[in-house]
Amino acid sequence: MTRNGGEALRVACLGAGYFAQFHYDAWRRNARVRLVGSCDRDREKAKATGLTAFGDLEHMLKMAKPDLLDIITPPPTHFEAIKLAIAKGVKAIICQKPFCTSLEEAKEATELAETAGVTVVVHENFRFQPWYRTIHQALDDRLIGDVLQVTFRLRTGDGQGPRAYLDRQPYFQEMPKLLIHETGVHWVDTFRYLLGEPEAVYADLRRLNPAIKGEDAGYFVFDYANGVRALFDGNRLLDHAAENCRTTLGEALIEGAEGTLTLSGDGSVRLRHFGDVKPSILLAAQNWNGFGGDCVKNLIDHVVNGVLDGMPLENEARAYLKVIAIEQAIYESNRLGTKIREFAHA
Ligand SMILES: NC(=O)c1ccc[n+]([C@@H]2O[C@H](COP(=O)([O-])OP(=O)(O)OC[C@H]3O[C@@H](n4cnc5c(N)ncnc54)[C@H](O)[C@@H]3O)[C@@H](O)[C@H]2O)c1
Repeated sequence: MTRNGGEALRVACLGAGYFAQFHYDAWRRNARVRLVGSCDRDREKAKATGLTAFGDLEHMLKMAKPDLLDIITPPPTHFEAIKLAIAKGVKAIICQKPFCTSLEEAKEATELAETAGVTVVVHENFRFQPWYRTIHQALDDRLIGDVLQVTFRLRTGDGQGPRAYLDRQPYFQEMPKLLIHETGVHWVDTFRYLLGEPEAVYADLRRLNPAIKGEDAGYFVFDYANGVRALFDGNRLLDHAAENCRTTLGEALIEGAEGTLTLSGDGSVRLRHFGDVKPSILLAAQNWNGFGGDCVKNLIDHVVNGVLDGMPLENEARAYLKVIAIEQAIYESNRLGTKIREFAHA
């Protein structure tokens, strides 16, 4: 699929802001890739990546001729960037979450790409964190028997006071929807990865810090068949026991009839058999590279293998529409104060 038949995959990136650093680092560590350009409307930021720098996407696509465009800019830029990339012959696109500005726009982008035969994968990286891969394998191996409930407690500890988020992601303060749209959406996808599609959702959200616009605390509960429940319990003002609260962003319990899996803030996963007191370690804490257990690199490697070797891809745009529909249902449930059983048709 490479333009030069068998040579490295030519990759160009749109965006050189806060989170892009993890993308550039991950691309540089993939030996099958050649980085051919960086574009940011602030060209100084693109220059700082050390790559051939552009201030305009159309110009970059024309000059750098990438096989793959990695979109690392905010949602209002996604649709136009995808349209332009398809028109200029790009064959694969990775687009950061939240994907586009609405379900309707995301559907339109997906249909455009499908018609053109262009692969679009949403950069939903949390399911690629090594601890969720370990937990998924443990469920497949039935190490805890039948799963009865999953709980994730998000405790980032970065949401207190008037300066909340300003040093790292200042745009958080202005977002009308924060906790779920920006961050909790990762567990909408992670719960799908671990348990499949939910049958219903209930949510109760609130804003605790008056310095910001959106919600910063709240719950959502997914219903599954046989009484299985998944609970996301988020509060950005509270922390958890971790040297770095950004490694896992919180703690998880995956409880089954024969045992319990625990994810701690250092990324370690423990298994305690039902009736036992002492757990054993399934995944030890390590000095992970990059962000969140190197999940950006894991996702990028996954896409490169998918594109170059035809391996099946997780979270292609069509599949990800479901995440956006569920997120909508979460806000709708919170607004109405009732459980939502019908998700928008994705
Ligand atoms: N998956 C994750 O774990 C994760 C984590 C953080 C952020 N994100 C997502 O990544 C995206 C970027 O977040 P960020 O924190 O890097 O934001 P940021 O504001 O730090 O960076 C965005 C960059 O995009 C550039 N930009 C904006 N519009 C542009 C345009 N039309 N053309 C060219 N450049 C343009 C800006 O100049 C800026 O440098 C967001 O969608 C965010 O939700 C994902």
